[in-house]
Amino acid sequence: MNAPSDIGARSGIGARPPRRASRRVAIRAAPRTCGRRAIGTVGGRPAAAMLVLALAAFAVLAGCRGGRSEVESVRIAGGDAERGAAVIRSVGCGACHTIPGIREAEGMVGPPLTSWARRTFIAGAVPNRPENLIRWVMDAHSIEPGTAMPDLDVPEPQARDVAAYLYTLH
Ligand code: HEC
Repeated sequence: MNAPSDIGARSGIGARPPRRASRRVAIRAAPRTCGRRAIGTVGGRPAAAMLVLALAAFAVLAGCRGGRSEVESVRIAGGDAERGAAVIRSVGCGACHTIPGIREAEGMVGPPLTSWARRTFIAGAVPNRPENLIRWVMDAHSIEPGTAMPDLDVPEPQARDVAAYLYTLH
């Protein structure tokens, strides 16, 4: 008795797979955009094409990885971003600065520290490099005498952690 409706249900389901399959292909093709240029060089005999494809895929992966490691290169030796966030909270940098990821840090006295990893200078005075940022956090006046940023007496290991946190902000 159930047979006709069963068949109907089955044929209903059976009608779907082709659509699903094509959707899957579309999704799989999307991540390739990262290396479209490299893949565009494929041509010639099948064996050579396979080799070129493999090399292109490797180049794409290496390229993507290279981009990521460039960003990570500002990581600070011995610095711990998580501990840095805790130091930022306990010192109260957020009273003067807006700092992404620190909930209570919405101060407007000093400049916002958003996208800190992409800044070129610290207070327009010295290049934004880890050693300079650590020094700035420890003793801003040694870099820019008379700056409105107070000397907060943050010890070196904590300043290192704070710097590690700020460099996670892209
Ligand atoms: C009493 C307010 C105050 C507090 C607290 C404070 N700052 Fe600042 N900060 C400033 C001011 C004002 C400036 C701008 C100084 C300048 O440009 O000379 C500044 C500048 C900076 C800069 C450079 C910003 C830029 O755009 O170049 C960084 C980085 C920084 N502060 C980090 C911190 C950190 C980290 C803490 C906590 C450990 C902190 N500040 C605490 C007021 C403060």
